[in-house]
Amino acid sequence: MERQASGILWGDICYSTDKDTLITRENACLVWEDGKIAGVYDRLPEQFRAYPVEDCRGKLIIPGLVDLHIHAPQHPFRGLKMDLPLLPWLNTNAFPEEAKYQDPDYARKAYEIFAADMKKSGTTRACIFASLHLPATKILMELLEEAGLETYVGKVNMDRNCPDYLREGEDAPAVTEAWLEETAGRFSHVKPILTPRFIPACSDSLMEALGNIQKKWKLPVQSHLSENPDEIALVQALHPQSRFYGEAYDRFGLFGGDTPTIMAHCVHCPPEELEMMKERGVYIAHCPQSNTNLCSGASPVRQLLEAGLQVGLGSDIAGGASLSIFRAMTDAIHTSKLRAALLDRSLAPLTLEEAFFLGTLGGGRFFGKVGSFQEGFEADVLVLDESKIPHPQPLTLRERLERYVYLAGDDWITKKYVKGRCVC
Ligand code: GUN
Ligand code: FE
Repeated sequence: MERQASGILWGDICYSTDKDTLITRENACLVWEDGKIAGVYDRLPEQFRAYPVEDCRGKLIIPGLVDLHIHAPQHPFRGLKMDLPLLPWLNTNAFPEEAKYQDPDYARKAYEIFAADMKKSGTTRACIFASLHLPATKILMELLEEAGLETYVGKVNMDRNCPDYLREGEDAPAVTEAWLEETAGRFSHVKPILTPRFIPACSDSLMEALGNIQKKWKLPVQSHLSENPDEIALVQALHPQSRFYGEAYDRFGLFGGDTPTIMAHCVHCPPEELEMMKERGVYIAHCPQSNTNLCSGASPVRQLLEAGLQVGLGSDIAGGASLSIFRAMTDAIHTSKLRAALLDRSLAPLTLEEAFFLGTLGGGRFFGKVGSFQEGFEADVLVLDESKIPHPQPLTLRERLERYVYLAGDDWITKKYVKGRCVC
């Protein structure tokens, strides 16, 4: 076992303990031992005196950010080709771009840029879709391992309703197993996640085989759910026996329960679907920027939180243009405000506390004890320098955090630790 680093940071510390509670501690020290948080203290306890200390006084210290949903092969066209809704956007933009990863040289070039961007971002944990290509997915895993983030990576499965040039054949389950075998035990920081693209792109026989692979390999699962009305109608036509979209995954044992599962979007879930997700502990990756760009809608995220569902944030590159989970926090607040103003005044918009929770602890829970500075949590830490956005008035620590989230994004991160290891 790799022995994890221990360390101490002095500075102004903010973290969530639940969706409503933001803890702020000015001029305090954060201590971790063997990669796990020991505590936050006003004075350094004697027993930690031997650990290396970094003086970050005047800077913000927060948990690393968690991106529950991102498509690595779509990174090169982020911020481009945004004028179509989901299904035509996939056919016209996403699929031709993903087909390029057939070529390992292109994949390496593109994934080097992606991994470098992820490394310098505020993200310390991510759940990542690759493309359907096995060699390219291995390259992505190698580059992410070097970057030092803790990630799940999925070789995508898709065998219908997609162009011939980006469609798997009957050997799709065998290729997925080959991918699992070839990468097993090779990485410390990158783990595999089973990734049926979404129900419209996966035949019943493929889904059945993936259900068996999940049981054999005990893998977590990621996919898409109830993102867009046309997509939902297509699922209904393909699975007339299912009462709702999620049941089409559930038929194959790929919808939570013993299978840790993330479903991206969940903008238009009917009540029975939400009930099943709650019962099964399915995580929702709320991707507000993508939902706006692709005209998918505005998620009732307040309702999801109040119903006790597990929710985190996703950048959904390249449906979303920005890799920044700070930006996802403000986008989540903005869309919840528009939803409240235009659609449903009974749903209060998200607060800063809630949005910050979603981007840290909300998504972090998928990885275990991640996304907070409570004792025993894994030491994923960001140090943020806001001195470049000067202000004449005194600000509370909460106000400084709010300003940083809205104004600075990933621009002024000075240090990033994952499980106590400094990665940049
Ligand atoms: N549904 C299936 N594939 C995709 C994708 O690549 N992006 C988004 N936003 N939704 C999807
Ligand atoms: Fe997506």
